This record gives sequence, C-alpha cells and structure tokens, in this order.
Amino acid sequence: MTSDCNSPSPDGTCAHGPDAPIAALLTRNRAWAERKTSADPGFFKRLTAQQSPAYLWIGCSDSRVPATEIVDLDPGEVFVHRNVGNLAPVDDANYLSVLQYGVQVLKVRHVLVVGHYGCGGVLAALQPPLQGPVEGWLTPIRQLAFESRAELDALPDDQARHDRLCELNVLAQVRNVAATTLVRDAWAAGEDLTIHGWCYSIGSGLITDLNATVRGPLTR
Ligand code: CO
Repeated sequence: MTSDCNSPSPDGTCAHGPDAPIAALLTRNRAWAERKTSADPGFFKRLTAQQSPAYLWIGCSDSRVPATEIVDLDPGEVFVHRNVGNLAPVDDANYLSVLQYGVQVLKVRHVLVVGHYGCGGVLAALQPPLQGPVEGWLTPIRQLAFESRAELDALPDDQARHDRLCELNVLAQVRNVAATTLVRDAWAAGEDLTIHGWCYSIGSGLITDLNATVRGPLTR
C-alpha cells in the first residue's frame, strides 16, 4: 500500500507498481472476509474460540490440489499437511508433528492421504536424479518405483506408469501413517480413527478412493 499513488483502488490500496499483485491479494482477502461474514456473521468469531476439524489432510504441495477447497469445506474443517509428493516418511519430524497434534490434540477422526495424478514429485522419481535436497526427499518414491518395477513395466506406456506410481505412493503413505506408534496407540486406546487413500485428478477435479481404508492395526 502506498500513499503517493494517484489512482488507488477504492479501498486505498495501490493497483500499480511492483507490489500491485500483493496489494491485490490483500484486497481480495478483505472482500473474501466480508463475503464470509455477510453470509454468516458469527463465522470468524467461532473459529477464534477453537478449531475442531474432523479431518487431517496429508497432500501434495501442488498449487492445483488445494486441500480444503476441493472437498468444498470451510476454514476450521481440515487440518492440513502438504509436501512435495504427499509423503509420510517415518522419520520426518514435520509430518509426524502434524500427525501427533491432529490425532492427540484435535482428535481428528479421519486421516486423508491424498495424492494426485500427474504429480511432478512422483514423475521426478521415474527420471534421472535431481540436484539438491529434493532428491533426498523423493528417495522413498524412487525406492517404491524400484520395488514396483515388475508391475510398472507391465503397463502400456509412461503415462500409465506415472499414474500407477502416484497411486502406489498413496498406498505406501497410508501404510506409513497406519504403522506409526501414535496411530497404533490411538487405536489401542479405542479411538475412532480411519486412514484413507485418495488420488485426485487435476484434469477432472474428481477424487478417486483407492479403497485403501484402514480402521485398525495392520496385521501384515
Ligand atoms: Co504432486
């Protein structure tokens, strides 16, 4: 926002110069908050009191897969963790902290592991190694591709292999979540907690349930 702009927006923000896109975001934020409030005057007040989401979303950072929006929910309804390739690595303190807070404090009832077809992180794991930290991060997907090579090689083309690896990655992460001590402890304590594996299609906006639902300790 600048005071020397000679043609500011109605709300006083400058619509010109290098900061214009950011100013536009703030303008959009105000308009959005006004729309939410006019539709439901108590909306934000309720959220300041507490969050009690039923869902924990573990998804990809891809900008085309916004968690809350694609299941048509509101702020307050989905606790979200996103990273490249929607991974749930057994040794990742970031994801594990989100899982712990979601399960133990927020008492979410569903963990949604959500991959998406066309995932760049998954595709990278089918291609030559990258430079930098992303290569280490994607190692679990590269290992999964190696372990699944018989199934993948039997598919007709690279597109099919990529899509299938996106699904296999979700299934692997569902198993990872189900195998964590804190999820097993929640089940042992009688908590109602279900892990789901979904794959989202950017091209259609539709989610496919991979029928990988886990409601209790895995036996193998
Ligand atoms: Co992705």
